[in-house]
Amino acid sequence: MMLKPIKAFLIAGARPNFMKIAPIFRASLRYPEVVCKIVHTGQHYDQEMSQVFFDDLDIPQPAFNLESGSGSHALQTAKIMIAFENICEQEKPDIVIVVGDVNSTLACSVVAKKMWITVAHVEAGLRSFDLTMPEEINRLVTDSITDYFYVTEESGLENLLREGKPRERIHCVGHVMIDNLIYQKYLLEKGDVDVKTFSSYSLKAENGVYAFLTLHRPSNVDSKKKFFEIADALNTIAEKRPIFFPVHPRTRKRANEFGVEFSDRIFLLPPLNFKESLYLWKDAEVVLTDSGGLQEETTALGIPCVTLRENTERPVTVEIGTNILAGTNKENIIKAYCESIEKAKTASVPPLWDGKTSERIWKVIKECFEL
Ligand code: UD1
Repeated sequence: MMLKPIKAFLIAGARPNFMKIAPIFRASLRYPEVVCKIVHTGQHYDQEMSQVFFDDLDIPQPAFNLESGSGSHALQTAKIMIAFENICEQEKPDIVIVVGDVNSTLACSVVAKKMWITVAHVEAGLRSFDLTMPEEINRLVTDSITDYFYVTEESGLENLLREGKPRERIHCVGHVMIDNLIYQKYLLEKGDVDVKTFSSYSLKAENGVYAFLTLHRPSNVDSKKKFFEIADALNTIAEKRPIFFPVHPRTRKRANEFGVEFSDRIFLLPPLNFKESLYLWKDAEVVLTDSGGLQEETTALGIPCVTLRENTERPVTVEIGTNILAGTNKENIIKAYCESIEKAKTASVPPLWDGKTSERIWKVIKECFEL
């Protein structure tokens, strides 16, 4: 039994990270052997891209904010690394837990490992095999130096084994994103949240059947041709169904720059907090998305999902879940939209996506540190 609790740093930087660290942090409070501190790298910084999640997801303010901000990949990654190295020098954490595949994930794992600090990667092993995605590079680099791999689906285990990672360091624990989803859905359903305060409340009430859309991948919105083609497909779908679309800052910027026009049946919303987003998509006829997390969350709740990408690092959502990989060609998107409701009828939820993943993660850490 160690006398002093171990100090764990939990890293979050960009929007999808906040949903993943929230359940891990809450679960840590049940273990007196661990002191868990949230480090926010500041990769996302706008009120609606960052602060709202701390208010919304039941997590305390970060213990440290590195305030890295936007910039090129090199600049952003470098700023995070420099600031994180300082914090590690001062605080000397025993373990750094990184989640997902954003620039903050790569930056903090590399810094920690070079300082001989144990690195745990939550959502390890996912591969799109597409090196044009910055996230794929982040996944590969992070996993090349990770000590403990926490895997969400079978493909993650297979990929890591193929890359020569020792089996005993790979832990199939399920998905923290689903822990958060189950918890937040429970709060919504038990009436803890006054949905009438949501800006989209009347929009939802007035449009019985609707689709929900997210779109922000550089490969989709930074290419004018691709963005126009996707918008064309969406405008066609909107003739049948109104579409609710919270717009990411990158997407808004590009849409203005390129002059992309959306049908007036596509309702453009600001970025939403987790609860309001869930409030909309959980009752959508179909979710259209290029996000990673939503492919999984829709599978967990059995909601039809059309993914506007050529590949996915989350194949289980296609193999057994509700997800259809549509690509970005207009005809294929419309075809996938038409087929998605039927597909969802026979879908199932992957093993261990049960809301208990964070507990499993801490159990492994306790065992590894012999606590
Ligand atoms: C990042 C992640 C991506 C994740 C996405 C979720 C990487 C490489 N990419 O992409 O995997 O799916 O977050 O949102 O880490 N901006 C703001 N306010 C903010 C943050 C960003 O206006 O709070 C604008 C800036 O103009 C910035 C642009 O959005 O340049 C892109 O932000 P960035 O963090 O570089 O990448 P994302 O596209 O958000």
